[in-house]
Amino acid sequence: MAKKHILIVPGDGIGQEVTAVGKKVLDKIAVRFNHEFTYDEALIGHVAIEATGDPLPAESLEKMRNSDAVLFGAVGHPKYDNDPSAKVRPEQGLLKMRKELGLYANLRPIKLFDELLGASSIKPEILKGADILFFRELTGDIYFGEKGRKNNGDTAYDVAEYSRYEVQRIGRKAFEAARTRRKKLVSVDKANVLESSRLWREEIQKLALEYPDIEVEYQFVDATAMILIKEPTRFDVVVTANLFGDILTDEASQIAGSMGMLASASIGDGTGVYEPIHGSAHDITGKGLANPMASVLSAALLLDISFGMKEESEAIISAIDQVLKKGFRTRDIADKTTDPSMILGTDAIGEEILKLL
Ligand code: IPM
Ligand code: MN
Repeated sequence: MAKKHILIVPGDGIGQEVTAVGKKVLDKIAVRFNHEFTYDEALIGHVAIEATGDPLPAESLEKMRNSDAVLFGAVGHPKYDNDPSAKVRPEQGLLKMRKELGLYANLRPIKLFDELLGASSIKPEILKGADILFFRELTGDIYFGEKGRKNNGDTAYDVAEYSRYEVQRIGRKAFEAARTRRKKLVSVDKANVLESSRLWREEIQKLALEYPDIEVEYQFVDATAMILIKEPTRFDVVVTANLFGDILTDEASQIAGSMGMLASASIGDGTGVYEPIHGSAHDITGKGLANPMASVLSAALLLDISFGMKEESEAIISAIDQVLKKGFRTRDIADKTTDPSMILGTDAIGEEILKLL
């Protein structure tokens, strides 16, 4: 029996609906495996701006630091998307959280549940067996480099910057993970053009000497974008910079059928943060249509990585597998062959998962 304190940070849009299901699943696990989980909630993003004027209030950050793990939803609001001049933005809360908590490694597992082979727009025979683990660097690169305007505001710039140390620590995590998997690592950069990528490649090459058992392939990001669709089974572990990782994992989500199925773990120096890779999806917010499985799978990652609860984590993944085998779907993963009565909303599919736990 373990005692753990979990912070629920739903954020914006469907973040609220999906983390509610994720929390219920954690609760169920606590009962079944005789753990004691306590919870608190904190604000981030648009909801935090509305309440306090700050996308990441000091109180939220303090609660994050004082918890054993964070289950996070999403941030964003359409109000800001077409207003480039907005000085305060929901996303700043997310970026500040990552930086402040030292969450330099973002793990995004792309795993296709067998039942969903038909839900992807990629042909099943290309997809079958695809199982990729992305390591996206999360606290450096063009996201956090110097940015600004010059020439009276008529020119804008964002600097992409990496130190050797930043590349080494994410690289090491990726090599270690490859050791526990199929021992293949693809490092993605743009070393034919970018100086920061050349340093990235130098450091990965140095690390490769320490891991002679791992087969390393170096790819340019444009080629990776193509190979992901052409031959997704070629990848095992992928390690890449912040911006490339952001873009490639949205693309790779289509291998798993839907963004609604993909969880991620952000880890580093302190508290780990677990969240779906999808966004706040204001177009479907409040309609009960969102797929909560990415949040539920994020809860599974949380148990596995932050608490070392492998069995508990696998129980969740197996419950999702069974729900899919029974034929239940949310709208995003249904296809032409799905019986409309099997297409459930957020809470109803959550209940099916809970039943199996
Ligand atoms: C993600 C998101 C964020 C990012 C946005 C919301 C700032 O797209 O977590 O992938 O770009 O990192
Ligand atoms: Mn993204």
